[in-house]
Amino acid sequence: MDYENLYQQMVKTAPETSWFVEVGSWKGRSAAFMCVEIANSGKTIRFDCVDTWQGSSEHQAGGGCEDVDCITGQLMQRFLENMEPAQGQFTPLQMNSLQAAKLYKDASLDFVFIDAAHEYESVRADILAWLPKIKSGGYLAGHDYFSADVIKAVKETIPQAQPYHPSCWIYHVPVWCYSNGLVDHLDNQPICSVHSRFV
Ligand SMILES: C[S@@+](CC[C@H](N)C(=O)[O-])C[C@H]1O[C@@H](n2cnc3c(N)ncnc32)[C@H](O)[C@@H]1O
Repeated sequence: MDYENLYQQMVKTAPETSWFVEVGSWKGRSAAFMCVEIANSGKTIRFDCVDTWQGSSEHQAGGGCEDVDCITGQLMQRFLENMEPAQGQFTPLQMNSLQAAKLYKDASLDFVFIDAAHEYESVRADILAWLPKIKSGGYLAGHDYFSADVIKAVKETIPQAQPYHPSCWIYHVPVWCYSNGLVDHLDNQPICSVHSRFV
C-alpha cells in the first residue's frame, strides 16, 4: 500500500461526522490502515468496505497473478480475520461495486476510494457510478494512476482530477456544485448537475 498519506489527509480534513467507502478491500491492508486512522482521529466516520471478495481477473486461476485464497474462495474469510482487531469500526459489503453504489443516496458520501478492477471499462463504470454519491466538498479518488487504462478512464470521466503522489488520482467535488438543478451560489443561476457532464 502506498497511499497512507492520502487516507491520512482524508481523515484529517473530513467533517466530524462523515461517511467513507473503500471499493476494493482485498485482504484488508488498506482498510485496516483506515480503521486505525479513523479511531485515532476521534471523529465519527462510518467506513464501508465494498468487495466481491472474488478477486480481480489477475488473481483468479490462469490470471497470471493467482492468489491461493482467491482460488480457494477464502478471500473474504481472510479479510475478516485480518480485520478482527477493528471489528465494529467498518461494514463489509460483499457485492459488485456498481450494485453497491446503488445503495447510497446521491451526495451522501464524504470520500470514496476506488481500488477494484483496473481495466478501462471497469474504472470508467466505477467512476460514473460513485461520483454522484459524493457530497459537495467531498472527494473521489482511486489507485493505480500509472496504469494506462486507469489514466484513460479518469481523464475521460473527470478531466479535473489530479494525480496524487505516488500512485493515486483525486477529485475534490466543488463546494458550489449541487445536484439536480439547484442554484450556483456565485450568480444565483440554476446549473445542471456537474455529474450530468460525465454520463
Ligand atoms: C487491488 S485489490 C484491493 C487492494 C486493497 N485496497 C489493499 O490495498 O489492500 C482489488 C480488489 O477489488 C475487488 N474487485 C474487483 N472488481 C470488483 C468489482 N467490480 N466490485 C467489487 N470488488 C471488486 C477484488 O476482489 C479485490 O479484492
